[in-house]
Amino acid sequence: MKYKSQKVAYYFFALSMILLVLQITYGFIMAFAHYGMDGLHDIIPFNAATATHKNLLVVWMLSGFMGAAYYIIPEESEHELVSVPLAMVQLYSLAAVGVVAVIGFHLNWWEGRKFLEIPRPLDYLVVVNVLLFLYLILMTLIKGKKRTTTSMVLFMGLLFAALLYLPGMIWFDNQTMDSFFRWWVVHLWVEGVWELIMGGILAFLLIKLTGVDREVIEKWLYVIVGLTFISGILGTGHHFYYIGTPKYWLMIGGIFSALEPLAFLGMALFAVAMYRKGEKRHPNKMAINWTLGTAIISFVGAGLLGIAHTLPSVNMWTHGTFVTAMHGHLAFWGAYGMLIFGMITYVMPQVTGRKRYETKMSEYAFWLSNIGMIAMTTAFAAAGVTQVYLERKVGMDFAEVQIAMEPHFLMLIFAATIFATGVTLFIIDFVKYGLPTDEALETE
Ligand code: HEM
Ligand code: HEM
Ligand SMILES: [Fe+2]
Repeated sequence: MKYKSQKVAYYFFALSMILLVLQITYGFIMAFAHYGMDGLHDIIPFNAATATHKNLLVVWMLSGFMGAAYYIIPEESEHELVSVPLAMVQLYSLAAVGVVAVIGFHLNWWEGRKFLEIPRPLDYLVVVNVLLFLYLILMTLIKGKKRTTTSMVLFMGLLFAALLYLPGMIWFDNQTMDSFFRWWVVHLWVEGVWELIMGGILAFLLIKLTGVDREVIEKWLYVIVGLTFISGILGTGHHFYYIGTPKYWLMIGGIFSALEPLAFLGMALFAVAMYRKGEKRHPNKMAINWTLGTAIISFVGAGLLGIAHTLPSVNMWTHGTFVTAMHGHLAFWGAYGMLIFGMITYVMPQVTGRKRYETKMSEYAFWLSNIGMIAMTTAFAAAGVTQVYLERKVGMDFAEVQIAMEPHFLMLIFAATIFATGVTLFIIDFVKYGLPTDEALETE
């Protein structure tokens, strides 16, 4: 760590881990409910559980990105963060919005638009919170000595992510219009600007971990940004096939979304190439594992499992089934979950000064969480294919199909237990590092 204020990252990562544990808890509640064991139904109905699961996912990832930015921006721009107390205010207010939203879901206070269930008044608080975050990051960049490509790509990603939250706040009476603009948020986040955030964080980690020249790494970054925009913007069309929009979206969405995996392939090739090229590898081997892992698993989860259902002729059968959940889990985990885990693994020794590289626990955490998530993806795939076939090809009744899928949810519970064990070990390792300290300054 080069600047004292980088310690702020730790607290955002801690919040991120707490919310992840809660998210996983709600995942289990739903997995059991799908298995037929829905004892908590009166207290936590399924709609509350699913909204909580998905919104906590978004908030733990945002908290992870914010922590990453608070670490990266001071280091890249060579300037202390402009205000640590304000960053802490931002942390607590983010946590408060999250808690109110989750309680609200349980009291039936929600909007019912997948991923954007947070009620409108809370949206305004999110906006204020994110503005404060962006202000702190921007002022640090302005006052800093350097504006590197890595820090600018990261900042642009964060800025556009904030701007793209706004279309989701416009009020429509029309279902098609509402759905159309909901995708501006959901799709253009994960298949657009979040990829810039990912590219920025990945570039930072690769610069630090492989020892390859910044110039080489940042050239790749331009290629990835280019590929992301060329495919991702019009790729939004793969959500407009059957929602009441004009027919030309079938063609546009099909073609451009089929190109989207290129950006993820680019990131995977980039990370592996830099790793091979690197001669001064950092001793933090687990951080390298997570970094290469995120580049590769995101290609599988987002790229390959994305293209699997992106053509209109396939999507008309698979839309909104567990095939979507199969892809959603591995894509989110591979691209953004593992990235945040990688950043945490790199940052912890830096901010605490304790060089606990390669503990047994961190190795088990890596393998169990990844094997568990791949097994979960397989369980979702089996459930999804069963569902598509029985419900949409054979024409069986919805409720009957739910019962036919139950065995796959037993498999899901088993796989999720492996995943959750890995995550638990990761968090125990995180706690074992202890709190950040100023004494950690300048340890490399
Ligand atoms: C890291 C990147 C990605 C993440 C995190 C992600 C995640 C998700 C999630 C959560 C959904 C469900 C959204 C909802 O119903 O509200 C979804 C849907 C979808 N994704 Fe992705 N995705 C990513 C990249 C991709 C890519 C690159 C492709 C195409 C090649 C793709 C194709 C699709 C399609 C076609 C759907 C619609 C499924 C349906 O009709 O039910 N995704 N994605
Ligand atoms: C113990 C672990 C987990 C279990 C048992 C679990 C289970 C589930 C279940 C059953 C659903 C379907 C909800 C529905 O039918 O409405 C779901 C949705 C979802 N979960 Fe998880 N989950 C877990 C962890 C995670 C993690 C770690 C992530 C992200 C990295 C994640 C991301 C998602 C997403 C994006 C959706 C929406 C999928 C869609 O659009 O179809 N989950 N989860
Ligand atoms: Fe999409």
